[in-house]
Amino acid sequence: MTSSPRSASAPATIAVAGATGDLGFRIAKELLQRGATVRALVRPDSSSKPEIISLRQQGATITEVNFDSIISLTAACTGADCVVSALSGLREVIVGAQTRLVKAAVAAGVPRFIPSDFSIDFTKLPNGTNRNLDLRREFQERLDQQPIQATSILNGMFMDLLTGQAPLVLFGPKRILYWGDADQPLDFTTIADTAAFTAAAALDPTTPRYLRVAGEVASIRGVQAAASAATGEQFGLLRAGGLGLLAAMIKVTRTLVPARNEVFPPWQGMQYMHNMFTGRPKLEPLDNDRYPEIRWTPIREVLAKREQK
Ligand SMILES: NC(=O)c1ccc[n+]([C@@H]2O[C@H](COP(=O)([O-])OP(=O)(O)OC[C@H]3O[C@@H](n4cnc5c(N)ncnc54)[C@H](OP(=O)(O)O)[C@@H]3O)[C@@H](O)[C@H]2O)c1
Repeated sequence: MTSSPRSASAPATIAVAGATGDLGFRIAKELLQRGATVRALVRPDSSSKPEIISLRQQGATITEVNFDSIISLTAACTGADCVVSALSGLREVIVGAQTRLVKAAVAAGVPRFIPSDFSIDFTKLPNGTNRNLDLRREFQERLDQQPIQATSILNGMFMDLLTGQAPLVLFGPKRILYWGDADQPLDFTTIADTAAFTAAAALDPTTPRYLRVAGEVASIRGVQAAASAATGEQFGLLRAGGLGLLAAMIKVTRTLVPARNEVFPPWQGMQYMHNMFTGRPKLEPLDNDRYPEIRWTPIREVLAKREQK
């Protein structure tokens, strides 16, 4: 099955898997704002979800699919110019469902695929240092065997986590918690900016295999300066230890609280921090300027918004 070529004036059709999720919903909205035809691929019985109601109101087509069936997925992908995956999960989703999705995209003649990578540069990390990123490398091997133009978006850590699950900025004691070197550059991008960039990339037929972005590159000292500027109060540093200690803590936490079926158990977040503090998955070179209309949100702004809540 092949898609018929789109006429120059017709808006691009982008199929988005994971459009009920945090990132996927925002990607779909950004695509609609850019004039694309959006087809949200959702699991059956999702139609009452607020994200689906909202996307339908904004003009998206909602297509219920069986993610276990390549036939169902192929029908849903037919006619799309690009398939974007913002699925989240463990092996069954990242390797299993995404493999079926890319095979369906190929069968449907879709020329381009954006996998659900959205992370630090996992291509530079050794196996065993980050369970979730190991799964992305496993899928990458399968993806790169498919005859489709793939583009991974690598955005570092979601900056929004600085006021949520990533306990780096301790607002109470006014400290920035870290391991290792306070001068190691780290990559952060908000979920909203990642979604805007992904939408622009989905509509750009010339994207390379990888695109790397960072809303702000900051060391721990940079995060400290941002927190001080955002709150008007002087933040200090709190070094918890070296990377060896963090690695030992990850082992202990994983043994005591394995939470194997959780996508983001505490030890996985710690693996992410460990990876970042080693500097290995640092994103370079950055493609921030590829779509000049995108304004990158700085850390100070994210922390200041938290202050206003
Ligand atoms: N760089 C970072 O710091 C960072 C942080 C967080 C997330 N991420 C990444 O960003 C991406 C999107 O994450 P998110 O936070 O937006 O995830 P999310 O809000 O949990 O959404 C996950 C999406 O995947 C769908 N899904 C889950 N399991 C599925 C399955 N078995 N079959 C079909 N669909 C399934 C969900 O559909 P339902 O609504 O039907 O469940 C939902 O649409 C992921 O790659 C994630 O790892 C990166």
